Amino acid sequence: MKEELEELKKSNLYRSLKSIKIENPFAYVNGRKCLLLCSNDYLGLSSDIRVINAAKEHLSHLSQCSSRLIAGNDPLIEEFEYELAKHKGYDRALVYPNGYMANLAISSLVNKDDLILSDELNHASIIDACKLSKARVLVYKHNSLEDLDRKLKEKGRSKLVVTEGVFSMDGDFMKRDIAKIARENGALLVVDDAHGDFIYGSNFKGIQEELRIDADIIISSMSKALGTFGGYIASRKEIIEYMINRSRSFIYTSALPSYLAAASLEALKISKEGSKQKILLESVSKIKKGLTDLGFRIKGESHIIPIMIGSEITALNISDYMLENGIFIQAIRYPTVAMNNARLRLTLTSLHHPYIDDILIKFKLLPLNSSLK
Ligand SMILES: Cc1ncc(COP(=O)(O)O)c(C=O)c1O
Repeated sequence: MKEELEELKKSNLYRSLKSIKIENPFAYVNGRKCLLLCSNDYLGLSSDIRVINAAKEHLSHLSQCSSRLIAGNDPLIEEFEYELAKHKGYDRALVYPNGYMANLAISSLVNKDDLILSDELNHASIIDACKLSKARVLVYKHNSLEDLDRKLKEKGRSKLVVTEGVFSMDGDFMKRDIAKIARENGALLVVDDAHGDFIYGSNFKGIQEELRIDADIIISSMSKALGTFGGYIASRKEIIEYMINRSRSFIYTSALPSYLAAASLEALKISKEGSKQKILLESVSKIKKGLTDLGFRIKGESHIIPIMIGSEITALNISDYMLENGIFIQAIRYPTVAMNNARLRLTLTSLHHPYIDDILIKFKLLPLNSSLK
């Protein structure tokens, strides 16, 4: 372990924890006050007083201290699942303790004669689900319709295609025709929409509404746009019934604390108004234009803004420099992204609206000279 840690340090891939106290849209990072540009609280709901009050009103206990199938199935969770399914347009929704565990549910959907087709940029929790499953796993090139179509011709009793809706590190959308190709090949389509959920679509139902596709299963997280905590899957009633009986990351863990379900219910209600999404997306367009005008290379078409840097050490140096200058933005490095593809992942909340010019000035003053390389 010691050698491995030394190796990580040498190759600029070592990770350590910072102490971070959030006061939206700011954070005290190791005691220093900064604008927080790396949280997934896209709509700023984690500090919305209505959401906080909803949690407080239902704070009779901190945890049910039991799994859903034993004594943990609080009516607030059921109410949230009901509202969520209605909003998403699915028969049923099933809440998990977090999005990571909801993604692990994929492993329970397949068996040894089955085939999983997974996009090469899928999140680690999807990769872990693939590893846990007994199915054969084929990774297709990022968003490549040809590669997916070719690999779907391989033998498999059942086939399952899994993709992110909005890719978390590249900020691009899944291609609409992924759904068509999955359908044509008789495969189930699973979309992890953790980052597009409650933001995109004319009714904020997420990527399936934005791209007008049918996904058999949507998997998502409440700790992004809803600003709360937890994960869920939405699907047909037989699939949800199957998960209640077969999904180990649902069965063998304690239930989501009920006050968090109450907070999510309130956050869902607010998200449906749509005003915060409008402010967020206005700020995103403005900052993307400003950064491009300053000469930064940015990727993707969504609200996630990867500023491409390349070298790991340069990305780390820029992140440190920005921190000293009042901006907290993290360097994203291998293995989260490919080697030499390091980037700064800039994310805004709707609360950053008054600060976009200030943020752009900090980027303008960034000395992109040899001292940061
Ligand atoms: C694409 C994607 N899926 C799933 C997750 C896991 O969600 P959670 O944080 O609720 O465990 C994340 C969070 O990082 C994510 O980015």
